[in-house]
Amino acid sequence: MKVANEASLISIGDLSKRAGVAASTLRFYEDKQLIQSIRQQGQRRHYARDVLRRVAFIRAAQTAGLTLEDIQQTLAALPDQRTPTKRDWEKMSASWQPLIQQRIDALTALRDQLNSCIGCGCLSLKSCALYNPGDIAANKGSGARYLAGDRPPSAVCAVSGKKSPSK
Ligand code: FES
Repeated sequence: MKVANEASLISIGDLSKRAGVAASTLRFYEDKQLIQSIRQQGQRRHYARDVLRRVAFIRAAQTAGLTLEDIQQTLAALPDQRTPTKRDWEKMSASWQPLIQQRIDALTALRDQLNSCIGCGCLSLKSCALYNPGDIAANKGSGARYLAGDRPPSAVCAVSGKKSPSK
């Protein structure tokens, strides 16, 4: 990696402090080729300042549930010889939108449905008789089908008794 201005380089300690990531984690990221340091003879690792954004991106991607391999593949599309532009980041992150949306949908379903029948097969709640009579959800596959995105053929509101069309 070429760096035009050495004064803009930061030490691993400064990077660690600013990014809120342990130096050992930064070395791990470097071993995995997610970030790259610059080492002059006999000196410690230094990093271009834009590595801070890479580290923030890696952390956010990990939080979103992406694997290091996913992240590595995506980061490989960034230019090596210059600081990535806003456009570079936009292009790179666009491929993650469907996966992130899937996670948001799953978490939203978890938040909204965990207190009611989730189609897991337990039939332990009163509402199971309305939403999952006789464990009909099992026909769709294993696991908690209504958390996985499947819907009952017609949902009956446990409070009002009204039927709503399946989605
Ligand atoms: S909560 Fe398990 S089947 Fe309804």
